[in-house]
Amino acid sequence: MSDKERANFGSKLGIILASAGSAVGLGNIWRFPCEVGENGGAAFILVYLVCVFFLGVPVMVSEFLIGRHSHANTATAYQILAPRTPWKTVGLMGVFAGFLILSYYTVVAGWTLEYMVSATAGRLSGAKDFTRHFNEFVANPWKPVLYMTVFMLLTHAVIVRGVKDGIEKFSKVMMPMLLLIIGILVVCSFSMPGSSEGLRFLLKPDFSKITAKVVLSAMGQAFFSLSLGMGCLCTYASYFGKEANLMKTAGSVALIDTIVAVMSGFIIFPAVYSVPGLSPDAGPGLVFVTLPNVFNIAFGNIPWLGYLFSVMFYVLLVLAALTSTISLHEVATAYIHESYGISRRKGAYIVTGGCIVLGALCSLSFGVLSDFKLGGMILFDCFDFLSAKFLMPLGGMLISLFTGWYLDRRLVWEEVTNDGKLRISFFRFYIFLLRYVAPLAIGVIFVNELLRS
Ligand code: PFF
Repeated sequence: MSDKERANFGSKLGIILASAGSAVGLGNIWRFPCEVGENGGAAFILVYLVCVFFLGVPVMVSEFLIGRHSHANTATAYQILAPRTPWKTVGLMGVFAGFLILSYYTVVAGWTLEYMVSATAGRLSGAKDFTRHFNEFVANPWKPVLYMTVFMLLTHAVIVRGVKDGIEKFSKVMMPMLLLIIGILVVCSFSMPGSSEGLRFLLKPDFSKITAKVVLSAMGQAFFSLSLGMGCLCTYASYFGKEANLMKTAGSVALIDTIVAVMSGFIIFPAVYSVPGLSPDAGPGLVFVTLPNVFNIAFGNIPWLGYLFSVMFYVLLVLAALTSTISLHEVATAYIHESYGISRRKGAYIVTGGCIVLGALCSLSFGVLSDFKLGGMILFDCFDFLSAKFLMPLGGMLISLFTGWYLDRRLVWEEVTNDGKLRISFFRFYIFLLRYVAPLAIGVIFVNELLRS
């Protein structure tokens, strides 16, 4: 396929919002607060910030330059840049990881959709045993599968519209909405009685809490949250125009992603601390079990405010998840379309169909298939482990090695500076991070994650 036929994002804003849409997702609103809660609050956030800006941004710039230079899906990109070498495996691994992540991520996205519907219908109002409610819902044989399928079809509907009319247009609508909702919810959460305790937890670092485990969790979270290591941003960058400033775009995406993650903490912890007896380290149940309790107890006197808060919160989760599933879907769709000469529409159907089947199996692994285990894990956990803990860090490490050591330095410089038009004063520092710091640091998380599991 020639470059002329290939779609491109239409504007700089579109580029930033689509990439930030990929990065901002359940990782920020669901996983980040849960990691913060389990790893001691402010100290974790500090380590996380270092990981985002010293490891995440350099790897993101590398993904961007690989994608934009090759103008191809992530698997083909490595074949173009390193023909007849084993580097093409890095791209193929990315497509495979994207497919796996999409399958299990959409299961959780489906839960958020169900909670949004339930919140709107008023089913989350009133005193209830929300732990039981959640456990019964995820183990139900058909309901979560149905919501997962609906979510996948929503993603499909955007993807088949194409890069400019689908991904870019929807990101330009959904991202501002998402940011607006976050702003409103932060104000609401701050105004709750007792919220200062939650703020203290988030803002006052206790340095004695920084252990090896905290550092490693922060690195893993940074990679997942920034969508790095599996060619997602590389695929998006293949639609960037010549004039896009890769360093600035990576900086903006990282900044938006971090602001959303920290704001989610500012929404959740003051709210949780405003209800005595609820724990900030409730883990993955934080947004599906603890928060419905908060909405009811904290707003007991003003139920309509509790209602509004909960509806807006789950709308926020759905929007964030959708912009991410779209980017995951695009990785595989672009690959099938360009590598096998199948039309984009047919490629999208194949990905949607395949992921619905795998997603259904992941969803059922919480209920009727809970006895089916691979490596001692239910299918959902197995997919999460294989992609987020194995393929993503490995991909991130290989991408930094590829850009830092294999690629011609001139090519990297030309991409980063747009053929010398941009002045990038810290180019050498960027190369240093890529050659030594990123591979070593990621190598450490990687080995540690493998040893821990
Ligand atoms: N970054 C997304 C989140 O934080 O929820 C998850 C994700 C999206 C991971 C796309 C990987 C990816 F390619």
